[in-house]
Amino acid sequence: MKKLLPVLGASLLTTAALAQSAPPPATPQFRPAYHFTPTAHWMNDPNGMVYYQGTYHLFFQYYPGGMVWGPMHWGHATSPDMVRWQEQPIALYPDSLGYIFSGSAVVDANNTAGFGKNALVAIFTHHNPKLEKTDSEHGQNQSLAYSLDAGKTWMKYRGNPVLKSPGIVDFRDPKVTWNAQLNKWLMTLATKDRITFYSSPNLKTWTKESEFGEKLGAHGGVWECPDLFPLALNGKTYWVLIVNLNPGGPNGGSATQYFVGNFDGHTFTPLNDKTKWADYGPDEYAGVTWENTAPRRLFLGWMSNWEYGNQVPTSPWRSAMTIPRELGLRQEGQEIYLTSQPAAEVGRLATTPTTLPNVAVKNTVDLTPRLKSTTAKRRLTLRTAQLAGFELVLGNAAGEELVIGYDAAAKQYFIDRSKSGNVSFSPKFTGRSTAPRLTTAPGADLTLYCDAASVELFADHGLTAMTAIFFPTQPITTVRLRSAQGLTFQEISNAALGGK
Ligand code: FRU
Repeated sequence: MKKLLPVLGASLLTTAALAQSAPPPATPQFRPAYHFTPTAHWMNDPNGMVYYQGTYHLFFQYYPGGMVWGPMHWGHATSPDMVRWQEQPIALYPDSLGYIFSGSAVVDANNTAGFGKNALVAIFTHHNPKLEKTDSEHGQNQSLAYSLDAGKTWMKYRGNPVLKSPGIVDFRDPKVTWNAQLNKWLMTLATKDRITFYSSPNLKTWTKESEFGEKLGAHGGVWECPDLFPLALNGKTYWVLIVNLNPGGPNGGSATQYFVGNFDGHTFTPLNDKTKWADYGPDEYAGVTWENTAPRRLFLGWMSNWEYGNQVPTSPWRSAMTIPRELGLRQEGQEIYLTSQPAAEVGRLATTPTTLPNVAVKNTVDLTPRLKSTTAKRRLTLRTAQLAGFELVLGNAAGEELVIGYDAAAKQYFIDRSKSGNVSFSPKFTGRSTAPRLTTAPGADLTLYCDAASVELFADHGLTAMTAIFFPTQPITTVRLRSAQGLTFQEISNAALGGK
């Protein structure tokens, strides 16, 4: 907890103060149209994402007592398509063993745990706030809860915890999946500065298999919220290990790194030691994937950053999730990268797009009158056969600008929110973030999902993803392109995304 403690500790103090003060004025203008937010109060990591009997379940770190981080519960929402969400009653409450920290959920089809055939089983970290002060090395332990009515109600297992900390301060965020190689459950657990794998025949007794990563990857902060899953490329199966990290991300604060490698049922071996990021923007964190959606691999993250998550100027809720993303693998040169594409379900919300062919940009071009759309909640796609430096500027009547672009000299995509509206709520809400372009292809495609207070960029068919939140003081109404060098987009398309 070394790195986490200041964040959580400070949050608890603020929570007490907040309980006595009136909530800030409501900000309905920042309520997203097609991203999940709780109706009210604080949310962080997505948890227990599982597809079960035709329904996508999303649980999440939730504090129903305030708008800042506090004693953690698992909130719950359900959806037929990962886009239209229905908030459900709280699934898990803190108890004598502690707060309910992050974790995962599985369908126990063969009743290995004895809770019932096809029981939904949640595996989560019990975080004991008292031990955090006196014996922090034993304050985080893994526990079970199960549901026999498709996630409506949950019972905690009486034998909790099922995996006790061996004396590691940060021992949390179990991601459990069925492993066919072992014919057992496999738990991928964040254990401070490395990942530890455990196996179990019944979810109740766990045996350590191996450790990974003490000297590999980015270590600017604590390793949290891991995930391990197979993905195929050209007929070969690779294993992707996701490791969230706080702080130490490529643009400051929390971020999601990943490794591509092999897993033999016991040990993960990376192809090389290059650090790679699932999203380079400042505002995707704790991202992990859905259980039970094979052959698709679907990913969702918390759309915020621990550097300023407790201060973002929304009310009466705090934080949204990213859109769901479908993951894949792609080879570029000698490297194999994870690709993130918006899940097709999000695109289905789009109205008929307005498509502009052959848009030549030199200096500034105002697309606003030609796009025939006044809503800021939109999908924009841009395709060029010859990429050059350019800026796409989303603006408003107050002269505020959110700039998304490509810096040809640096070979970097970027998002600059320095002049995007309210940026003063935290000194750590930094302006410009960058991401390397990972292909040398001459042409490029960019897809932008813009909502009330966020933008998600998917470039080069998902090779580079960037997510950033922003808070304009007036609605975004204009779309302009700028390029000193000049370039032509063979196609620009704009579709409104109504959502909800
Ligand atoms: C990541 C995290 C997890 C922990 C949870 C607590 O954002 O710190 O490691 O389980 O949040 O809310």
